[in-house]
Amino acid sequence: MADTASEAMVETKALHKEYGATVAVNSISFKVSRGEVVGFLGPNGAGKTTTMKMLTGFLKPTRGSVFVGGVSVADDPIAAQRRIGYLPENAPLYDDMMVVDFLRFVADLRSIPAATATGRLKNIAERCGLMNVLGKDIGQLSKGYRQRVGLAQAMLHDPDLVILDEPTSGLDPNQIVEIRSLIKDLGKEKTVILSTHILPEVQATCSRIIIISDGKLVADDKTDTLTTGQTGSVIKVIVKSKNGPLDEGKVKGIFNDLPGVQAVDRHDSEGTGTLGFTLRASGASDPREAIFSAAVSHNFVLLDLHRERVSLEDTFRRLTRGEN
Ligand SMILES: Nc1ncnc2c1ncn2[C@@H]1O[C@H](COP(=O)(O)OP(=O)(O)OP(=O)(O)O)[C@@H](O)[C@H]1O
Ligand SMILES: [Mg+2]
Repeated sequence: MADTASEAMVETKALHKEYGATVAVNSISFKVSRGEVVGFLGPNGAGKTTTMKMLTGFLKPTRGSVFVGGVSVADDPIAAQRRIGYLPENAPLYDDMMVVDFLRFVADLRSIPAATATGRLKNIAERCGLMNVLGKDIGQLSKGYRQRVGLAQAMLHDPDLVILDEPTSGLDPNQIVEIRSLIKDLGKEKTVILSTHILPEVQATCSRIIIISDGKLVADDKTDTLTTGQTGSVIKVIVKSKNGPLDEGKVKGIFNDLPGVQAVDRHDSEGTGTLGFTLRASGASDPREAIFSAAVSHNFVLLDLHRERVSLEDTFRRLTRGEN
């Protein structure tokens, strides 16, 4: 058995997904240890759902791999899925099924032995606060209760890893508090990965935060660092051609490949023949020297090179500007 206590509960290696010309997830690598509660943060369209679908094996990556408890999701999806509970973004629930019947149906699907299913179902229904609505049709439930049913179906087979895609989206403030406290409880015994585009959401529930933007991993840090720490830097660069026009894509690619650089974006240039770029670097890494060397070896001029430290909160603000 590949599984040991010290082994990562989840590991992705250069996980990548393209839909036609759209790069939804761009070579993301991270590890989540057993017992961690990790927030997957990013604006709309960042690639959160796509990543989660690949973690659970419901979507095949274009490239890269996912391991759950040491098991390759691609090689053995059934064994991996046995260990995963998944609350999809728009949990598909059967509106004209009673809550109790739906949960029995899920227990069957998950091959939970009949002898233990009833006890297990009752236990989960209690924990998710569903005892009073077991006899109701799912279609009659409020959004908050529907979400509890979604959580219950995800936890029924007692998975080690629970993956929740926007578990509080569309809920009112009271329901949000209730679902958060459920998630906190869950986090005491399970490894949890949840996605959201709301910063306070992850601050309330997660010990670690991974930020993705435009399919790329742009930050990965402890939640505590959020309010206090300096977690990376931004380097503004203006480049000028020496001979002939500059190929924007080529220069971007050169910067992107430098060690410590997580993302490269365009910013204002300084007139003809120049291009401006913003490079984001992780943690304490300082790619300025590498930028200089790259300019020399690729034969372009650096007109400007300037580094500023940023906090994760700045990063998040920048990513989510214009949201909500
Ligand atoms: N089935 C699909 N076909 C084509 N493009 C897709 C498909 N699913 C997602 N995308 C694209 O992939 C990118 C990432 O989408 P994804 O749903 O993973 O983002 P997200 O972070 O979950 O966003 P949200 O916060 O809105 O849920 C987007 O550009 C989206 O339009
Ligand atoms: Mg999504």
